[in-house]
Amino acid sequence: MSLEREKQLAAESAAELVEESMRIGLGTGSTAAFAIRRLGERVAQGLSITAVPTSLQSERLAREVGIPLIDFSDVISLDMTLDGADEFDPALNLTKGGGGALFREKIVAAASDRLIIFADHTKQVQQLGKFPLPVEVNPFGWQVAAGKIEALGPKVTLRQGSSGPFTTDNQGYILDCEFGEIPDPPALERQLAAIAGVTECGLFCAMAEIICMGEGESVRHITPRA
Ligand code: A5P
Repeated sequence: MSLEREKQLAAESAAELVEESMRIGLGTGSTAAFAIRRLGERVAQGLSITAVPTSLQSERLAREVGIPLIDFSDVISLDMTLDGADEFDPALNLTKGGGGALFREKIVAAASDRLIIFADHTKQVQQLGKFPLPVEVNPFGWQVAAGKIEALGPKVTLRQGSSGPFTTDNQGYILDCEFGEIPDPPALERQLAAIAGVTECGLFCAMAEIICMGEGESVRHITPRA
């Protein structure tokens, strides 16, 4: 069974949770693309929703498939956000930001009553940290923030794009931080948030309500374990 198929089944099962009149946050990444396409089909069949995308990439796809978009500055809250993840642990703490959209993803998730995550089975881990943690920093003096993060233990690499540093939709830089193991994700999230120059980190702690995980030809709905 291919991982693409698991992503598709997981994302499509999450898209079925969307109900009439909801305001939806649209995640970013290859799995989120399946959900956006499925929602586009449902809109074409008559479902009435509005959505806020978490990246320019998802915005383009949502427009292409006909999902009505609203300006985030016009909404106070969203009913549900559908998004992918790079890793999730048994408490449903997440690592996100492999695609560089973590800042908008976190703001949109924070504004949502429900955060529904979809993933193929390879994203399930006992402990976060194998996937290098993306941290968005302001380009001004990014080396200072990088040094302070390095003092916490990880190897830190400035993510590169096709011509120089990779730049996010908010003109930030991404530092990929190889922690190896993150025994206490909420504590690390707090430590990173306290560093000057850090815009956001890719740890999403205690935000997800459910993970729709593709496993072969089926989808398992996983809820948090303390
Ligand atoms: C985007 O910045 C990320 O947070 C994605 O949600 C995450 O990287 C998962 O992406 P895939 O669905 O492509 O694995």
